[in-house]
Amino acid sequence: MIYDKFLTSIGRRLEGKVAVITGGAAGIGKTTAKLFSQQGCRVIIADIQDELGHSVCHEIGPEMSSFVHCDVTKEDDMKNAVDEAVSRFGKLDIMFNNAGTIDPPKIKIWENEKSDFERVLGVNVTGVFLGTKHAARVMLPANQGSIINNGSVSSIMGGIASHAYVASKHAVVGLTKNAAAELGQLGIRVNCVSAFAIASPFVRNVLKKYDDDVIEKKVNGLASLKGITLAEQDIAEAAVYFGSDESKCVSGHNFVIDGAFTVANTSFGIFDQ
Ligand SMILES: NC(=O)c1ccc[n+]([C@@H]2O[C@H](COP(=O)([O-])OP(=O)(O)OC[C@H]3O[C@@H](n4cnc5c(N)ncnc54)[C@H](O)[C@@H]3O)[C@@H](O)[C@H]2O)c1
Repeated sequence: MIYDKFLTSIGRRLEGKVAVITGGAAGIGKTTAKLFSQQGCRVIIADIQDELGHSVCHEIGPEMSSFVHCDVTKEDDMKNAVDEAVSRFGKLDIMFNNAGTIDPPKIKIWENEKSDFERVLGVNVTGVFLGTKHAARVMLPANQGSIINNGSVSSIMGGIASHAYVASKHAVVGLTKNAAAELGQLGIRVNCVSAFAIASPFVRNVLKKYDDDVIEKKVNGLASLKGITLAEQDIAEAAVYFGSDESKCVSGHNFVIDGAFTVANTSFGIFDQ
């Protein structure tokens, strides 16, 4: 029995760690929660979707996971989620500020509602601020910890999503850098992962007018790297790296996962095959 446990723990990259994952009931957060637990990390799923959150915990198992209702825009909820990690599992090593939202796509800025703009900034920016604040509070005593923010390729370029979404994701990178500058002095790392579009419900909702196969072709066709389909798992794998001690010297980064979409302007067609 002890030998079995020893065997399963070999090579687990987050063995013994504890994480809070906001937006962990679905999409990238859910995939990350499952991968983190396979890597030996106990996870708190913090989300507004209680039923889905509980079902993710059921899949992972009660020893390795727990669900907390948490609206990331509410400070009390965020404080409670972080405190739950400490009371249930004894500490917090990794905070994945993953929860995010987007507004209905409207082509003209004058058609955009202020309320939609503020809602997106509330979840995508205030949520990350509150997650960082409360994670840092409980990570302080150990002088270590890894905070990972979920950005987007919209954090480094315009023209690919709504004004609110692009503005919010640029802000996430600013917050990442500033928090890395401050918290690095206390041994806490802060990084951002920024993916190109995954043909997930999130993206399908934005590109409603297209069929699923058209979305997949559009998305895959835009990246320079061919023969791949970006999936939730790819972002989860990056989060494992930033959560693990393998990245112990890495802080303040915006790690882009986009098949070279943002670094190459292919409109001249120089390398067209
Ligand atoms: N899907 C993509 O293509 C893509 C690409 C780049 C970046 N991202 C980013 O990845 C993150 C996750 O996106 P996803 O594709 O998994 O989306 P998703 O819609 O599948 O999942 C988002 C999760 O966040 C939760 N959530 C929403 N508002 C919340 C709130 N106020 N408090 C707590 N939880 C809340 C939802 O309930 C849901 O479980 C987002 O920050 C998004 O901007 C997504």
